[in-house]
Amino acid sequence: MAPRQKSKYLMTFEDSADRLPLQWIHGFPLSNLLWDPQVFDLADIVRHIVPNLRGHGVSEATAPPYSMAMFADDCIAVLDDLGIEEPIMIGGLSMGGYVAFEICRRHPERIGGMILAATRAGADTDETKQRRDEATKLVRDQGVEAIADAMLPKLMAPQTYAKDPDLVHFVREMMLETSVDGVVGALAAMRDRHDSVGDLPLFDLPTLVIHGDEDQLIPLAEAERMARELPDAKLAVIPGAGHLPNLEQPELFDDAVREFLEGLYAE
Ligand code: MLT
Repeated sequence: MAPRQKSKYLMTFEDSADRLPLQWIHGFPLSNLLWDPQVFDLADIVRHIVPNLRGHGVSEATAPPYSMAMFADDCIAVLDDLGIEEPIMIGGLSMGGYVAFEICRRHPERIGGMILAATRAGADTDETKQRRDEATKLVRDQGVEAIADAMLPKLMAPQTYAKDPDLVHFVREMMLETSVDGVVGALAAMRDRHDSVGDLPLFDLPTLVIHGDEDQLIPLAEAERMARELPDAKLAVIPGAGHLPNLEQPELFDDAVREFLEGLYAE
């Protein structure tokens, strides 16, 4: 890449801070390590801001319950700390997408576009809410390991799970970094989140909806609905990927993101 700047002694250097800021928000119960491939592969076109939500990764846990509003405000507080006031791109995977919708409602002036990966706009059904409460009991009784082991096979496409033990191990370790309070807090935040379906036509932002064709947790039809009902959205379906398309098929995922962002730059 061509050097972008010169100091007064003609020493050339680059500063990724002059690129479009993109805040990546991870899913449940993961951490910012989720975005490792993107941080590496897309470093030439964006400035990555990659928080750990409260109680996840190495971020401190406060006492549960948490809410999507809390997560959204936490993400905006990171931008405040960095002095970023202009609207930025928000990329959210699954629960990270629920946070992105909450940022649209609470801080519309801070968001200029979205990448919605493996997520859905609808709220929890009564049955899902009940499953959240059962999961809360499970993690309190048996620890995060019990949640991780129950979720892992469903998080990835069957062939990823069967054939990529290193990735399975990496994701499991990431889940085990989450504290019990973090898991319990996030389960409550997801259970009580707003239904965003009715708001979709109001979120008039360039958006890339991106979904694995073998997602066992959130059906592809949810992504198709978001892409249809958001005013300015494109859909990218990632073949051979489950609920973690950015880790399972990083090249395809990154190509889709790159094409989307380059399209925006060209405009
Ligand atoms: C996630 O991947 O963030 C969660 O599985 C989403 C959910 O449970 O609704």
